[in-house]
Amino acid sequence: MSKKTIIVSNRLPVTVSKNTEDGTLSFHPSSGGLATGLSTTYKQGGNLWIGWPGTYGHDDKEKIHIEKELKEDNMAPVYLTKEDVNKFYEGYSNKTLWPLFHYFTEYATYDKDLWDSYIHVNELFLKAILEHAEPEDTIWVHDYQLLLLPGMLREALPDATIGFFNHIPFPSYEIFRLLPWREETLEGVLGADLIGFHTYDDMRHFLSSVNRLLGYDSSLGLVKVKNRLVAVDAFPMGIDYDKFEQAANSDKTKQKVIAYGDLLSKNKSILSIDRLDYSKGIKHRLLGFDKFLSKYPEYQGEVSLILLVVPSRDKVDQYQHLKEEIDTLVGKINGKYSRMNWSPIHYFYRSFSFDGLSALYKASDVGLVTPLRDGMNLVCKEYVASKTNQQGVLILSEMAGAAKELSEAILINPNDENQIVEALYNALTMPEDEQRSRMKEMQKKVRRYNVHRWVEIFMNQLDNIKEKQTAMNSRLLPKKSQERMLEKYEAASKRIIFLDYDGTLKGFAADPQSVSPDQELKEIMASITADPKNRVVIISGRDKETLEAWFADFKVDIIAEHGIWLRRGDQDFEMIDNLNSDWKSKISRMLDRYVDRTPGSFVEEKAFSIAWHYRKADADFGDLRANELVGNLNYLVSNMNLQVMHGNKVVEVKSQDVNKGKAAVKFLNDDKYDFIFAAGDDVTDEDTFLAMPKKSYTIKVGIGASAARYNLKTVADVRQLLTTFGNIK
Ligand code: UDP
Ligand code: G6P
Repeated sequence: MSKKTIIVSNRLPVTVSKNTEDGTLSFHPSSGGLATGLSTTYKQGGNLWIGWPGTYGHDDKEKIHIEKELKEDNMAPVYLTKEDVNKFYEGYSNKTLWPLFHYFTEYATYDKDLWDSYIHVNELFLKAILEHAEPEDTIWVHDYQLLLLPGMLREALPDATIGFFNHIPFPSYEIFRLLPWREETLEGVLGADLIGFHTYDDMRHFLSSVNRLLGYDSSLGLVKVKNRLVAVDAFPMGIDYDKFEQAANSDKTKQKVIAYGDLLSKNKSILSIDRLDYSKGIKHRLLGFDKFLSKYPEYQGEVSLILLVVPSRDKVDQYQHLKEEIDTLVGKINGKYSRMNWSPIHYFYRSFSFDGLSALYKASDVGLVTPLRDGMNLVCKEYVASKTNQQGVLILSEMAGAAKELSEAILINPNDENQIVEALYNALTMPEDEQRSRMKEMQKKVRRYNVHRWVEIFMNQLDNIKEKQTAMNSRLLPKKSQERMLEKYEAASKRIIFLDYDGTLKGFAADPQSVSPDQELKEIMASITADPKNRVVIISGRDKETLEAWFADFKVDIIAEHGIWLRRGDQDFEMIDNLNSDWKSKISRMLDRYVDRTPGSFVEEKAFSIAWHYRKADADFGDLRANELVGNLNYLVSNMNLQVMHGNKVVEVKSQDVNKGKAAVKFLNDDKYDFIFAAGDDVTDEDTFLAMPKKSYTIKVGIGASAARYNLKTVADVRQLLTTFGNIK
């Protein structure tokens, strides 16, 4: 079977409904940016769209009918029960995530029962995908209803190519952290290989939450998630430009414009189109229009607002209230200003056909798009694409993702009624030339970065990250090489094994003193040190007292403090060279200042080095301070023969003359070894790797570039390898 793309979203682009009188099923296009935006792109090839058909409670006969109809258009259903719809869709998706992600924290409810249902429905989607997915397929998951699905997919299909796109805003950390299930949610999303957002702001909010809540660092949009590389990027979604442009010029649309008669021809018209949603700012818009008519009474009788509100999520309380509020406001404004031959607002609470929308876009004078918060907003782009004569003015909220691209619109803050009033006045009085030049610029951008390009760029980036992962994995110790290594190990009569501690033999923890060797590690150490052919050297940045205490029961050599202290067998520690530590008080004063200025950080003083740890500090803040500290230290030590090392959540200062490599060479020179092995995970271990003779086995723990010959992904992999060493007698 050839490679296909499986698109997965909660709502299919087609919604099924059942006639309550005769029980017949009908199929009609879904509203909302995700469904409309992608609906023209997925039909190519053998692609497939998996999602909910928008209803529940079908018997087997109806299900067969639905499946057959959907299959013809490359779709497959995930059925939800009434309870799922209530708890997962209306509940967790639209009473918890939607308000929280749109900054309406006062509307967000946190209910464990709803969360459980969210997990359950994400699992239903997983099951449906597994029925259709082939190993070569690309799975592209969409939107906030399915945040856990990428993680579930990754577990079920570890090598799958998985993309995720979030169509709504990703809130700042201060908002996201309110979610009781925030860590699980982030881990779920991070199951994808590529995570897309509409804007750079969404992307940086996400990365900041990932860093602060899970501790995963990122660089240039790449996050290392347990040794898997995940890419995060911004892809502002486009529309099917040609479709709207052609429709605007079509006879059907022209006939519709005529059919709408007075609505579009008699007065100037302002167009407002949204799903019923509090994030869209419909109330603010109405209040602004009211104020406009009162401030500029000359427009009474001259301009009408066409208010199209598409029913949405009408079982959710806030949506019901909003509907009532809009009804009341429209009634008030119409009551206040209407004349026998003129109404200020033409209000439609229903969805329009595509031709109907096209006619409204084409013939209205002003597009008024003023969401309080919107991931992207496609309505404004559709308005621009439909203006084939380049006459018309777009008023757009700064809070819509689209505002980042459409800078030639009249941009306003939707919370400021006066800005709406003045924007309407400016739009209605804007000279035709200016309308044309603004519209032309916007059309250029919307045409160029259309939805096809959006899909293409996303898919290219997905291929790119897959290639990067493959390149990384190609450094992993291959099975064959491991077998050869074990043969060499077995054949050798004198082996030396250098082992770094933190990040190599033992995982990291917030408190560096809390990670003494556990039972498994002790058994491994006992086994490899019992072999008289082995010389095992612990080579660490830790102080000598700690290492000595932790390894007291084993026959090991120790290199402590990054190569300052050397201990051969049970002899005493000796210093590598005659070092002085007079510099320490000066450096220590500076580090102490950083402890005061960075809650959670602390100083560790060793005999000939001094370290500032910030693993327990707030992640972003810690990085900021660390970079500042490194800059200051480099300045301070410039003529002191000291070096500043920025390791894993630690900044350390020590003598230039010492490093792990120099110390390791001293031990290598003690004897002739026919099997040399070194494993380590961070920058300081690179010196060890570089100092090893050519044929040595050097292993970097974790993914990433290194002077080591091979990489192993995790501490567990290192332990496994050492266990195998230990089993060779
Ligand atoms: N839309 C629709 N039927 C209507 C009115 C609007 O299908 O009667 C479409 C509109 O063309 C647009 C989408 O709904 O593509 C709304 O997307 P947008 O991104 O603006 O907002 P969302 O609803 O996704 O929050
Ligand atoms: C927005 C969301 C979509 C959703 C659409 C319609 O565009 O990003 O995921 O499908 O609204 O909402 P609904 O609840 O009707 O699916």
